[in-house]
Amino acid sequence: MNNYFEYIESNKNKFLEELIEFLKIPSISSDTSYNSDIIKCADWLVEHLQKIGLKNSKIIQTKGHPIVFSEWLEAGSDKPTVLIYGHYDVQPVDPLELWESHPFQPEIRNGKIFARGTADDKGQLFTHIKAIESYLRTNSQLPCNVKLLIEGEEEAGSSHLEEFILENQDLLKCDIALISDTEWFAEGMPTICYGLRGISFFEITMTGPNRDLHSGSFGGAVDNPANALCKLISKLKDEYGRITIPGFYDDVLELTGQERMEFKKLPFNIKHYKQDLGIKEVYGELGYSTLERVWARPSLDINGIISGYTGEGAKTVLPSKATAKISMRLVPNQKASDIAKKTEKYLRTLIPPTVKVEIKFLHGGNPVLVPINSREIKTAVNALQKAFNKDVVFMREGGSIPITEIFQNVLKAPPVLMGFGLPDDNVHSPNESFSLENFYGGIKSSAIFLDEISK
Ligand code: BES
Ligand code: ZN
Repeated sequence: MNNYFEYIESNKNKFLEELIEFLKIPSISSDTSYNSDIIKCADWLVEHLQKIGLKNSKIIQTKGHPIVFSEWLEAGSDKPTVLIYGHYDVQPVDPLELWESHPFQPEIRNGKIFARGTADDKGQLFTHIKAIESYLRTNSQLPCNVKLLIEGEEEAGSSHLEEFILENQDLLKCDIALISDTEWFAEGMPTICYGLRGISFFEITMTGPNRDLHSGSFGGAVDNPANALCKLISKLKDEYGRITIPGFYDDVLELTGQERMEFKKLPFNIKHYKQDLGIKEVYGELGYSTLERVWARPSLDINGIISGYTGEGAKTVLPSKATAKISMRLVPNQKASDIAKKTEKYLRTLIPPTVKVEIKFLHGGNPVLVPINSREIKTAVNALQKAFNKDVVFMREGGSIPITEIFQNVLKAPPVLMGFGLPDDNVHSPNESFSLENFYGGIKSSAIFLDEISK
């Protein structure tokens, strides 16, 4: 057994304390009032990377939040270069009252650490940082070349990272992109993710009269933008759960019979799923199972809708404005830019003459499918098996990590999605957590991966 295992075993408490420090910084990327915490978090990371021996670690400014970049290239050109990607930004915390402990005062309960960003993605990212530390401390060098690319805008759509990568392809040149920002199929089932959905996110605002009106004096005579918006949104899907935007399904890659069979082999229990979510029935596109719907079929959902009076009791008012935030999840081989064009074109045909409309596309990202027979995927499977002493399964993911497709198609670096989250980690929800067993096992997996990919 390699001596980095011993280092990991004997430094578990130190690793956890450092992770807690990292988690205490409220690096919420989508809310500008946290901008100074974003900077604090990026600075903390650079200092931490330097402390563990990565001297070439620095902040790179963008038009948005800063990127943290680091490289260790002393393994030489005959060894592979692994680019490790992660994000230090986190989602907002509301509704705050539903948290059992404060989102930025991490607490350990039942073998899990609770705080915003534990699983998504600070805890997962930290597995690699601690693996590098363990390797450097015990071998005084790394087995391969390593670059770290850590962004502060993933939860806000990675808007500036793509541009940075396009302009810095030499700096980022690598053989593999290693990413830990996904989850396992279930507890005790180490998982490699081989597919991510893409996304297209837009906001649509309808404006009617120039002020809120009395709904008695004007109702029935002036179009209500909230009604008009609901009517428009209801036209975006048909009764079979299919999206009605013309050409929307043109590039959708159908599932193969083989893949559908593989999905069916996974221990998915629809009864538990419904119970866990407190829903009476599942919903979705006719002809597809729940896993197929989430992993391999596109979707369209309102993420937020704002209009009129929402306070206590009744107020008879006809609102002057209504806004909806809508995301579409995309699947291979749909392209976010193409879908945005088709969506806008269709929306324009649905606008009634009674309201003014503004449509804003906030961000987009392409879907990803990773071939699973490659050497790097086999290495990841092997690393997980060794670290957790369990068999490894494959799954796709309904969520998005927009930059993954850029690694694949621009840097030509095959992505390895070796995540350590669990389905009940509550990412993006109150009481987000990360299993400590997976944290420590993740550190081992990362160290083994770097070791074995270099052989
Ligand atoms: N870590 C998630 C992606 C993910 C979600 C993996 C669920 C596994 C399960 C990532 O940080 C994320 O949330 N991405 C955003 C991207 C979006 C803002 C462009 C997402 O999917 O909503
Ligand atoms: Zn996330």
